[in-house]
Amino acid sequence: MARIIALTGKGGVGKTTICSAFVRIIGETYPEAKILAIDADPAVGLSTALGVEVKKTLDDIRREIIEKAQSGAGREAVELLGEVRYRIFDALVETDSFAFLAIGRPEGAGCYCAVNAYLKEVIEMVSKDFDYVVIDGEAGIEQINRRVMEKVNHLYLISDASKKGLQVADSIHEVAKELVQFEKCGLILNRVEDPEIVSYLISEGRTDIEILCVIPGDPAHARNDILGKSIFELNGDAPILRGAKEALDKMQAE
Ligand SMILES: Nc1ncnc2c1ncn2[C@@H]1O[C@H](COP(=O)(O)OP(=O)(O)O)[C@@H](O)[C@H]1O
Ligand SMILES: [Mg+2]
Repeated sequence: MARIIALTGKGGVGKTTICSAFVRIIGETYPEAKILAIDADPAVGLSTALGVEVKKTLDDIRREIIEKAQSGAGREAVELLGEVRYRIFDALVETDSFAFLAIGRPEGAGCYCAVNAYLKEVIEMVSKDFDYVVIDGEAGIEQINRRVMEKVNHLYLISDASKKGLQVADSIHEVAKELVQFEKCGLILNRVEDPEIVSYLISEGRTDIEILCVIPGDPAHARNDILGKSIFELNGDAPILRGAKEALDKMQAE
């Protein structure tokens, strides 16, 4: 059974960046491990961060299956399920070190309920074939509320030092304690220049989640971002990669 790692937090705080760093580090640390990266954010971005091109999204598959079921011919549900499985594995983008799947952006609708419900089943189904599943979650609380991430081994909350970012992280944490079966949860503070801010945040009672690491703003990453370069093109000892490794190590330590 895979170890499922999920990242969540406010929009724009660095979830996608750190998620891509996790995929790179896990791949380098365990070259034999089968890793699946899931972009579960309809706002997309993980594919660019990982340097892969998406052929087909989960939402494309969902629509194809619905069309097929509607065109009927009395197909059995079991048969359709087999078909879903086949199509999902067909849609995975495979690289030397990981596989990739994107949830996609449902057309027209402002509500992602259908594809979120679908995502939950898919995570359960495909995770059996992988050692690590790393999920870049949608900003905010929706996927926790809808129990998309019902069973997660390690839940990472990402925030900057802003009051709002930490409030979002804390409220996700509160809801997750009720609705998500997770073994461990920790907080990554991203784009924090001065480590002393951490003691201030703690003394102010801004968060009670364990702080795993503090990552400063990284100009090299910002440059890569502008050029559309992936995380694999970032220098191995870049602060983002060092911070991500520290966080992974702390969560994995028994
Ligand atoms: N530590 C960092 N240093 C420099 N730029 C960063 C850092 N973390 C994130 N960014 C940049 O900030 C923007 C938002 O980050 P992103 O990972 O997309 O956030 P989210 O997925 O939470 O919305 C992106 O342009 C990203 O490249
Ligand atoms: Mg993102």
